[in-house]
Amino acid sequence: MIRSVVRGFGAALPKRVMTNREMESKVDTSDEWIVQRTGIRQRHIAGEGETTASLGERAARAALERAGMTADDLDLIIVATSTPDNTFPATAVNIQNRLGMRHGAAFDLQAVCSGFVYAVATADAYIRGGLARRALVIGAETFSRILDWSDRTTCVLFGDGAGAIILEGQRGEGTTADRGVLTAQLRSDGMHGDKLYVDGGPSTTGTVGHLRMEGREVFKHAVGMITDVIEAAFEATGTSADDVDWLVPHQANRRIIDGSAKKLGIPSEKVVVTVDLHGNTSAASIPLALDTAASDGRIKKGDLVMLEAMGGGFTWGSVLIRW
Ligand code: ACO
Repeated sequence: MIRSVVRGFGAALPKRVMTNREMESKVDTSDEWIVQRTGIRQRHIAGEGETTASLGERAARAALERAGMTADDLDLIIVATSTPDNTFPATAVNIQNRLGMRHGAAFDLQAVCSGFVYAVATADAYIRGGLARRALVIGAETFSRILDWSDRTTCVLFGDGAGAIILEGQRGEGTTADRGVLTAQLRSDGMHGDKLYVDGGPSTTGTVGHLRMEGREVFKHAVGMITDVIEAAFEATGTSADDVDWLVPHQANRRIIDGSAKKLGIPSEKVVVTVDLHGNTSAASIPLALDTAASDGRIKKGDLVMLEAMGGGFTWGSVLIRW
């Protein structure tokens, strides 16, 4: 049996940091309100010349270096993003070109904040199906470019960044003790499309548009959807909350993260939280959090790591990895 094993990880953040205090000068808000409601203290904002592709390239290079690989060793690139450099070509082929890779396949995947979970699940299916051997999976976003900077209910929540992992197909024994992706549980329900969306697009307005969100409505569904896909992952693998070494959630809101962990019975010491430093970076948030916790030595080889996300669509999902 072939398993997709994590070989490398990397991340990239824009240089510019915007604190809540600075946000106070842009809209009618306060550091206290933002911290209390979301846990966010600062976010990184892309500057001139920094784009989704350039951040993705930096994260990819860091992951390749850690894996001791070059782009020649890859045969698949998937970029999860809702903020591509262009409508087309895909940001993935842009990054492929930046890496000097002239073979294999590269494409974008769009599942908003669940994009990285969807992309890992897709890369894993390609690897297990024999369509790829080594996949670079990137989550990269520049949400600052689709925010309405006069809307205090959304502009304080998001940030920019990128993270990447490299998955390699390796033969395993077929038990959950093996390393690699153990299961992926993906869900969507388009009925909720109007609760979190961008009010523009090439086929409707011919504009890029701005992010719109009914925050309270998203919040209402989040914990239930997240715990549902995590429980499905436990059931599929015969594992339980007690077996999880690290929960690495999508970083949207501290209250959603804490509420989900509490409902599942996962203690807060096992939850990786970066929302305070990065804000919500959509598809980039999980690989950024993975890079943080794997770089500082918390996530170690052999650890059982649960990824989860929920976002626009709605889309939601979980991936369980033996690191
Ligand atoms: N500063 C100060 N006050 C504000 C701000 C702000 N930045 N934003 C809203 N308020 C005010 C509102 O106007 C409202 O005032 P009112 O009572 O006078 O009308 C009050 O604060 C409360 O507003 P709510 O929206 O009820 O606040 P809530 O506690 O729900 O928190 C939040 C808002 C943080 C957006 C929360 O609903 C949330 O986190 N929702 C989930 C968002 C999320 O997780 N998205 C994930 C997916 S993202 C993706 O897929 C791209």
